[in-house]
Amino acid sequence: MNIKILTQFPEMFAAITSESILGRAADKGILNIELLNIRDYSTDKHLKTDDTPFGGGAGMVMQCQPAFDALKAAGAKGKRTIYMSPRGKVLDQTMIEELSKEEDLVILCGHYEGVDQRIIDEWNMEEVSIGDYILTGGELAAMVLVDSVSRLVPGVLGSSESLAEESIYSGLLEYPQYTKPREYEGLNVPEILCNGNHELIHLWQWQESLKLTKKRRPDLFEKYLKSLGKLSKKEKKILDEVLNSEE
Ligand code: ADE
Repeated sequence: MNIKILTQFPEMFAAITSESILGRAADKGILNIELLNIRDYSTDKHLKTDDTPFGGGAGMVMQCQPAFDALKAAGAKGKRTIYMSPRGKVLDQTMIEELSKEEDLVILCGHYEGVDQRIIDEWNMEEVSIGDYILTGGELAAMVLVDSVSRLVPGVLGSSESLAEESIYSGLLEYPQYTKPREYEGLNVPEILCNGNHELIHLWQWQESLKLTKKRRPDLFEKYLKSLGKLSKKEKKILDEVLNSEE
């Protein structure tokens, strides 16, 4: 996958490009992240990239010229282009899965009061938000998108970071995990995880996921119930227990 990121702060992206999983994927040639500094494309003698908004108001707006030229340099025509913005569609795992199937992505990060609307319109940009809060710029949001999309690109995660488990439980929050030692300062790992009965372990994990999701994310829980296929007798019993519990 090729990801081109247009930003005024390329150095911020060291946080994800040098990180072990994405760094390794880049070395293997699976993931190619290219940073274009919008300032480098400004034809202004002071390398200015923004100006005050027409109609007045506070803040500065990114100008068309440097953005258009950076987008041309990125070969953005015909590619999926995204503008990180709190106005956009909120990123979720479904959108992330869909984006991970693209061969090319171009991402524009804005700052201050945003960008000239003609950039978004002319380059057919999808606006994507990472949540209902305002960041000082699109860079952190772009890093969240790139990190979450990249890990779904085949070959990016090694076998030790496998996605297999997640897909089985997709739609539910993850069950609690434990590691060695079995007892730490009097705190014990649940007995069932240590007895080697894989069927019982899986049922216990599923039950814990159901309980957590019902309690913390009733919205996800409802969605999960609607998507459920046929259950075995044992699974049905567990689900009924969770549905009928007061917790
Ligand atoms: N830029 C500023 N806030 C943002 C957000 N919540 N999501 C995406 N881009 C942003």
